[in-house]
Amino acid sequence: MEGPLLRPLPLWRQRSGGLAMHQAPQHRPVLVEQVADLFQPIESGWIIDATFGGGGHTRRLRDELAPDVRFLALDRDPEAEARAAMLGPRIRFVNSDFRHLGEVAEEAELDAITGVLFDLGLSSLQLDDATRGFSFRRSGPLDMRMGAGSLTADAVVNEWDEPDLRRIIARYGEERFAGRITRAIVAARPITDTASLAEIVRAAIPAATRRRGGHPARRTFQAIRIAVNDELAALAEGLDAALDLVQAGGRIVVISYHSLEDRIVKRRLVSASSSPEAPPLPVSTPAVAPDFRLLFRKPMTADEAEVAENPRARSAKMRAVERVSSRADV
Ligand SMILES: C[S@@+](CC[C@H](N)C(=O)[O-])C[C@H]1O[C@@H](n2cnc3c(N)ncnc32)[C@H](O)[C@@H]1O
Repeated sequence: MEGPLLRPLPLWRQRSGGLAMHQAPQHRPVLVEQVADLFQPIESGWIIDATFGGGGHTRRLRDELAPDVRFLALDRDPEAEARAAMLGPRIRFVNSDFRHLGEVAEEAELDAITGVLFDLGLSSLQLDDATRGFSFRRSGPLDMRMGAGSLTADAVVNEWDEPDLRRIIARYGEERFAGRITRAIVAARPITDTASLAEIVRAAIPAATRRRGGHPARRTFQAIRIAVNDELAALAEGLDAALDLVQAGGRIVVISYHSLEDRIVKRRLVSASSSPEAPPLPVSTPAVAPDFRLLFRKPMTADEAEVAENPRARSAKMRAVERVSSRADV
């Protein structure tokens, strides 16, 4: 589990000595109406917001759901704790990676878990804070840690062997110029900040393709961030824990932002909602019903109006399941 980050406060908070909520940078929650609708049938128990971030989804659920519903908010970023504290006594916060959801829920002694929400990736608060090192548009240190992990982007960029670096840029960035980019990074070592890294990546990509598909460094930054935070393994473990924890009638809702995440989410949720394979004939056993049902088959996406207001929503895909078996049967 992650402890406090030994890192100075971001500059906007040092200068202001703490800003009022209306002045502070905000994170706009994605698909918030649809998330509220999906949790609407839940009338009691605990909903775990596994990715509290700016608290936009939890705030909406707190306001819309019955007063008996309480919330356990998790985030691996310790800066989320102060925002959770502003949402009042129905919300408890734990600074943890959601891969430890099982242990966290056990320690918190939650009686009934009736919902789990994952809204994956980074918040705008993290992306817009140059000191965190996530942005290819603002210069900052090569950090990219969401929480208190020991691996930094600096180590990945300046110390990893060329084949390892190429492998993650190709796999986690789905970057077809991974070879050229890796060679350029290795030749430019040591690289000291995100602006230099973004420029090295931009220059390594053939000029004709630089203007297509967003900023040329976007995929490489995504790849390094996924590696630094071990995001895909954490997602698989967090989903398994959620599937294990939620009680009958409880719902799990997941919003992902790129195909690597969505593939893991789809595979886990579809498999939990399918009957286990029948043994080969001639052994005949009664069919085993699945523990979950998919609430809809195709992922929900944001409409044009939401995307126009919040470009982060463009790539969002939401999937959801409901437990149909009682946990005691599992
Ligand atoms: C997209 S933001 C969530 C925004 C939030 N739903 C809201 O409305 O403000 C994702 C958050 O999840 C956190 N996060 C990402 N991966 C995590 C993990 N494995 N464990 C815990 N928190 C994680 C990030 O630190 C970030 O604050």
